[in-house]
Amino acid sequence: MSQLQDNFGRRFHYLRMSVTDVCNFKCTYCLPDGYRPDGKPKFLSLNEIENLVAAFSEVGTQKIRITGGEPSLRKDFTDIIRVVADTPNIKTVATTTNGYRLAKHAKEWYDAGLRRINVSVDSLDPKMFYQITGENKFDEVMRGIDAALEAGFERIKVNAVLLKGLNDKDLPKFLDWIKHTPIDLRFIELMETGLGHDYFQEHHLSGIDIKKQLEQQGWLFDLPRVDDGPAQNFSHGDYQGRIGLIMPYEKNFCASCNRLRVSAKGKLHLCLFTENGLDLRDLLQDASQRPELIERLHGQLEQKKETHFLHQGVTGVTQHLASIGG
Ligand code: GTP
Ligand code: 5AD
Ligand code: SF4
Repeated sequence: MSQLQDNFGRRFHYLRMSVTDVCNFKCTYCLPDGYRPDGKPKFLSLNEIENLVAAFSEVGTQKIRITGGEPSLRKDFTDIIRVVADTPNIKTVATTTNGYRLAKHAKEWYDAGLRRINVSVDSLDPKMFYQITGENKFDEVMRGIDAALEAGFERIKVNAVLLKGLNDKDLPKFLDWIKHTPIDLRFIELMETGLGHDYFQEHHLSGIDIKKQLEQQGWLFDLPRVDDGPAQNFSHGDYQGRIGLIMPYEKNFCASCNRLRVSAKGKLHLCLFTENGLDLRDLLQDASQRPELIERLHGQLEQKKETHFLHQGVTGVTQHLASIGG
């Protein structure tokens, strides 16, 4: 079966699959004021997930990242990992988590087939962590990262969204941490979502400033690694950890886009920001529907736009990122 490809020659071997938009943290940049959770959510079932992943794997998907909300709040999270890991041709099963349940479950998830974990840690100062996430769980999350390293996960990534007036003074602490800890730390530039206009005006910090600071301190730009997507990576001889910068406002950010998204209710999103999603759910009910599902995926790829246009001052149609897993 032919691989998913868009009109700009980009191939999509990476699927970000959200399994819930519920979260037990309330990060201010992610769930802005005005957000109301859906009263009666009906998230993809294990059977629907199995059919979805099988179809994507037939059209070239090799990596699946299970996202949320907080994906590990699903009671069947370990079963989801297993179903994805058991699908032929899926080489990497990953997740992005707030780390809240990691200390307890890292080993269980590893044994089920999970191989990559990205954890959100927006500050290494417990008070600032609380101010941003609304939860006093800093120690638990850090214990979770240690547990994941022990369980065998390689190169855990830690995400911090840069926020003016909040965590923008934390760079030295982050650098101290990765001197002797072998993680990939990624600084993410805040993106303006449909509900996040005022927040963006107040807290947006340019990734370029961080890049300059890193270069002044001897961090060197690395050649892109396979599978890195749009992140720019840096390394330094004196540090065990590495740094990635995700700067969505850079002009060519989307040129290396390699990912598609499916929301927790089964909508295909060609981009984080450009459209409201196409429902796939009617074709996820039975394995016999796979050819029709694949045809729909190919047809839809024709619509993928070249970029998100955020750098041209457009606000994404997406109200907040918890609904489609960032
Ligand atoms: P890897 O698979 O390890 O490369 O991770 P990733 O960067 O794809 O995944 P992660 O969930 O850690 O993403 C971190 C954040 O980067 C997301 O939550 C988004 O905020 C942002 N991000 C990831 N992919 C995209 C993208 O395609 N476009 C934009 N604008 N932002 C993205
Ligand atoms: N801007 C940038 N990143 C965001 N995330 C959520 N909302 C935003 C936003 N407005 C990302 C963070 C977090 C992940 C789960 O979602 O990277 O680590
Ligand atoms: Fe939840 Fe992640 Fe959003 Fe924080 S960033 S509220 S952990 S979905």
